Amino acid sequence: MANPSVTEDAVLAALSHVQDPDLGRDIVSLGMVKDIVISGDKVAFTVELTTPACPLKEQIEEDCRQAVRQLDGVEEIEIEMSSRVMAGRGSGQEALVPGVRNIIAVASGKGGVGKSTVALNLAIALAESGAKVGLLDADVYGPSIPLMVGEEGQPEVVNSKIIPVDKFDIKIMSLGFLLPSDQPVMWRGPMIHSAIQQMLRDVEWGELDYLVVDLPPGTGDAQISLSQSVPLTGTVIVMTSQAVALTIATKALVMFRQMNVPILGIIENMSTFHCPNCHEETNIFGHGASQEASDRLGVPFLGSIPLTPELSRSGDQGEPIMATKPNGPEADAFRNAAQLLAARVSVVAMMRSEPSGV
Ligand SMILES: Nc1ncnc2c1ncn2[C@@H]1O[C@H](COP(=O)(O)OP(=O)(O)O)[C@@H](O)[C@H]1O
Ligand SMILES: [Mg+2]
Repeated sequence: MANPSVTEDAVLAALSHVQDPDLGRDIVSLGMVKDIVISGDKVAFTVELTTPACPLKEQIEEDCRQAVRQLDGVEEIEIEMSSRVMAGRGSGQEALVPGVRNIIAVASGKGGVGKSTVALNLAIALAESGAKVGLLDADVYGPSIPLMVGEEGQPEVVNSKIIPVDKFDIKIMSLGFLLPSDQPVMWRGPMIHSAIQQMLRDVEWGELDYLVVDLPPGTGDAQISLSQSVPLTGTVIVMTSQAVALTIATKALVMFRQMNVPILGIIENMSTFHCPNCHEETNIFGHGASQEASDRLGVPFLGSIPLTPELSRSGDQGEPIMATKPNGPEADAFRNAAQLLAARVSVVAMMRSEPSGV
């Protein structure tokens, strides 16, 4: 027999004490509680998170269970954890890429800090959590994603749209697929602009939660063009802890800020090296300075990726480490960074979607 004391209002009132720690608000006012069904002493409901990569999924589920368990007459609780990624600014029908909810640029001050490696493995880590993910290699000076994923040649064109390569559960498009690999291309500002526009508009991206864009290093035409072509949800800055890399990365960060692109966070790459022979830890490029820089600049620190021989090899062999060694320390580091990044995207998307937001 139904217990009259359990009502939908009572369940909502209980759940209004559960916070989403990233968004800093309760899950009821955030509209995350859906489909409450009460039958007798059983309460079932769905919690719709803002990303499948939510690092606090288990904690939120447990908090919900605790909260509802307090209600009189509740014996059984069934919670379904689902997710729907919030759209950042500028998505929607009028946008250049209407099906893409969030565009995340991966940038660095200088080349060779592992920006492409980080962009690729972050994209795979996000997809692994269940999100729909694309990767756009917009490095006009050195598109390296084709090599890193072991794909080359011209992608298919259907109904005058370029079909991205589907590999490692992500949709991949690179300028390298369109250009002869052994010839340098002399790019000028307007060409860069139209190439980037084309790779956004003329590629069949479909519905994506996150489109990760691997930008060329520096603060040049490609960065400005991308920032002006589409409203970016934000940018991730990849740096090593070398003083010079840090200084230049800081410049890139300031440039994005000036263009009103939110900084989602900093990732330190080529961090600690664990010697496989002597088992000692060495900080080849220094360690910790990136974290200090993010504190100083008031930007979230998303994590450190270790410097390992496997990670170096994986790039040359066309086999991303997230796919070949999913249980290793490198994959763990990327997974953690991807979760923090996804949480930051939710926060930024929420701030943008509210009238009082930034
Ligand atoms: N954490 C790492 N450990 C070892 N090698 C790395 C790491 N990150 C990147 N590399 C290697 O360093 C080189 C440069 O990386 P890449 O991602 O192409 O940098 P960028 O895109 O910034 O120019 C590549 O050969 C890559 O495999
Ligand atoms: Mg690169």
